[in-house]
Amino acid sequence: MKTIRQKFEVQFTYSVSFTQGLFKPENNMLADVLQQDGRSGPRKALFVIDSGVAAAHPHLTEEIAAFTSKYKDVLWSVTAPLIIPGGEEAKNNPALLNKLLEAVNLHGICRHSYLIAIGGGALLDLAGFAAAIAHRGIRHIRIPTTVLSQNDSGVGVKNGINAFHKKNFLGTFAPPFAVINDSDFLLTLEERDWRSGISEAIKVALIKDAAFYQRIKQDAFRLVNRNMEAMQELIYRCAEMHVEHIGGRDPFETGSSRPLDFGHWGAHKLEQLTNYRLRHGEAVAIGIALDTTYAMLVGMLSPAEREDILNLLSDLSFELYVPELSMESEDNKLRILKGLTEFREHLGGELTIMLLSKIGKGIEVHQVNEHLMTQAVQLLQQWQHKRLRLHV
Ligand SMILES: NC(=O)c1ccc[n+]([C@@H]2O[C@H](COP(=O)([O-])OP(=O)(O)OC[C@H]3O[C@@H](n4cnc5c(N)ncnc54)[C@H](O)[C@@H]3O)[C@@H](O)[C@H]2O)c1
Ligand SMILES: [Zn+2]
Repeated sequence: MKTIRQKFEVQFTYSVSFTQGLFKPENNMLADVLQQDGRSGPRKALFVIDSGVAAAHPHLTEEIAAFTSKYKDVLWSVTAPLIIPGGEEAKNNPALLNKLLEAVNLHGICRHSYLIAIGGGALLDLAGFAAAIAHRGIRHIRIPTTVLSQNDSGVGVKNGINAFHKKNFLGTFAPPFAVINDSDFLLTLEERDWRSGISEAIKVALIKDAAFYQRIKQDAFRLVNRNMEAMQELIYRCAEMHVEHIGGRDPFETGSSRPLDFGHWGAHKLEQLTNYRLRHGEAVAIGIALDTTYAMLVGMLSPAEREDILNLLSDLSFELYVPELSMESEDNKLRILKGLTEFREHLGGELTIMLLSKIGKGIEVHQVNEHLMTQAVQLLQQWQHKRLRLHV
């Protein structure tokens, strides 16, 4: 018997840049980013825009046209930007993936061309997936336009669409060519989209950085009241922690440990159980509250710290209980608990979920007591009712 053993390493680098007015003629950030590829002559680019962004920024396509005309030596937009429905629809409707792939084919977008996507986390997930599978990977630049995509989903290496009623069932690990966060886009967000990404910042603060958690607490009022400076700081710190985390250990998640998925087993299942009525960030806030309550029940976390976390989430206007949490299946078990199996199947390996031993310190566990988790759901329901009574 003979074996040939193969081994090589591939290094990935990409920048996450922060700006305002990205498509203003005087802003050369995008041109600079493109020139990092070391090539000369105009690069072919296909722009894809989230329909929610296009509606809120009616002059965006004209701005892009003027911009590409000014920077024509660097960039050539092969056609008018493609407007694709934003929100979870982008990930639930397979026809949209096809539409993107057709455009890549029609306009001859090759592996040295760029797919430049502007939108929320869902649209970016779809565009990132299309970019990753067309020609086995074309260059992808993400321009995230929601808080959640600027501080979390848009800065990482994953993409995905939903299938078989499961979140992110189809997807790849594919680092982007670059990410550019333009805070001007945040000005047009609906209230809930301004807010929902804050839960991802609380998530990362809770498992890694108590000082950041305290900072979010101090800034809660400003954040709720749409103070841009406070939001820019939160996004920057959160994105920085994500980038550090991903680059640090296991970017393509080959092991079982996924600290950044704290609160996510429940969140993903709840998104599906609510038929995507909840935004990802809203579901994450509930997922965090649930796992925090469970951590208290198993004696890992003090009741005072649990109270502090639930209060902060509520102060940021997150609802911490929805009736779907208590939905049961035929065997009288909570349907949300199925999320644990689906989470394990999605990630592979041993079930690993993150809990907290204190604020700022995540701790992994490999088993969940379903009886106590059911009790955690009940406690959360009571907590939310009490809070509503106190705040009418
Ligand atoms: N790939 C990853 O690593 C990763 C990580 C976390 C979350 N996600 C995914 O991200 C998605 C959630 O992303 P999201 O919270 O950004 O929500 P979203 O993409 O669903 O967008 C929410 C709504 O905001 C609109 N919108 C976007 N930008 C806007 C703007 N600037 N002005 C006005 N409207 C705007 C969209 O059209 C949509 O209707 C989920 O599908 C989640 O699974 C992916
Ligand atoms: Zn998330």
